Amino acid sequence: MANVLRIAIVDPNDATRENLKTVLLGLDTVWLEAECSRYEFFADVVEQTKPDIGLIAMDSDSEKAISLIAEVSSKAPDCTLLVSSASTDGRLILESMRAGAKEFLTEPLKDEDLATALQRVKRQQVGNSAESSVGCRVIAVGGATGGVGTSSIAVNLACSLAADESQSVALIDLDLALGDADVFLDTIPEYTLADVAQNISRLDLTLLKKSLTRHSSGVHLLPRPIQLEDGRLITSDSLRRVMDLLKTSFTHIIIDLSKSFGTLDMDAIQMADDVLMVTQLDLPCLRNVVRLMMTFDDDPSLREKVKIIVNRGGQDSGQISLKKAQETINRDIYWQIPNDYRVMVEVRNNGVPLLEQAPKAGITLSINKLADALCGKQSSDAAGGDSETKSRRWLNLWPAKSP
Ligand SMILES: Nc1ncnc2c1ncn2[C@@H]1O[C@H](COP(=O)(O)OP(=O)(O)OP(=O)(O)O)[C@@H](O)[C@H]1O
Ligand SMILES: [Mg+2]
Repeated sequence: MANVLRIAIVDPNDATRENLKTVLLGLDTVWLEAECSRYEFFADVVEQTKPDIGLIAMDSDSEKAISLIAEVSSKAPDCTLLVSSASTDGRLILESMRAGAKEFLTEPLKDEDLATALQRVKRQQVGNSAESSVGCRVIAVGGATGGVGTSSIAVNLACSLAADESQSVALIDLDLALGDADVFLDTIPEYTLADVAQNISRLDLTLLKKSLTRHSSGVHLLPRPIQLEDGRLITSDSLRRVMDLLKTSFTHIIIDLSKSFGTLDMDAIQMADDVLMVTQLDLPCLRNVVRLMMTFDDDPSLREKVKIIVNRGGQDSGQISLKKAQETINRDIYWQIPNDYRVMVEVRNNGVPLLEQAPKAGITLSINKLADALCGKQSSDAAGGDSETKSRRWLNLWPAKSP
């Protein structure tokens, strides 16, 4: 189960259904997947949309509502049923619970009552399902300057994560003007982030998934808009709603940030669990890392989630040492990705991920291990960075000529 619960509702009464929708829209822990105004159709709606939660408003016809609870409980046992009624009649509450309802809510619904009930449901579902505890991890990848390898890392990290069949990965290209994630994956997407963001209030999960381009690696891509001016169609609110819906279905969302660190980039950073800050070992990059970290420092939760990734380490000359880099930025280096000009040129020219082009190359293994580390999987020679000796060992493993 993801962080956001998908809910389907049925209420033949237009007024109470509207109130219910308003309450639901005010909660960012739920996504209204489907609404229905007839009891007769609701079991089919649940079967088709497979929500985490079904909410049945009982007061239009309590007998029909009770048989509906029983029908949905048997046809869709994974869907947790909540019921609502203005009645406090003990018999009605008992009958609805016996038929399969898990929570009884009193009309008119209040957002705090619904939020508390949803929290209980979530806790139960997390307890019941092994997969559910995974949730969705949002990883934003940004660069300290242009051309440091942000997209290379975002795309290939997405592919490494998707190689594990228990994981499902969406990749969002937020470099709205010049993003090239589609080129990295040699795809011609039908829909872009602008199309999806513009229509998000009309999309359900099935339609959203159809709007993504599935790459053979398993990664689902949401690319940048085709027309430059269409970037303006994406608002903070629509981006958040796209992410909320994606979170209900994917275990990982990777975001390739733009170098402008504009409003949408900062929104994505706020929504992320991890922010990978890609840098190289030269002064302009490290200076920018310091500047960015000063901005992020204003928000302690942000500082916590930033992880510094050194890309293209191990080049022969001219690089600042890791020790000096750490002193300059006053932070540990979370990961180092070796320089491999030859493999990266091939990858780029062929439009295939590292895992396909060079599965055994040092750079591929490094990104695979980064994926594992971010998922909390142990890796013998993981991260480090706080030991110069260890870092040297890493960098010397894959010496490669710079371009
Ligand atoms: N570890 C690496 N070793 C060698 N070359 C690399 C490595 N990582 C990236 N590159 C190369 O660096 C160049 C820039 O990479 P990429 O496009 O991923 O960077 P970016 O930060 O996304 O750039 P932009 O600012 O244009 O979005 C590409 O030619 C890529 O092949
Ligand atoms: Mg890029």
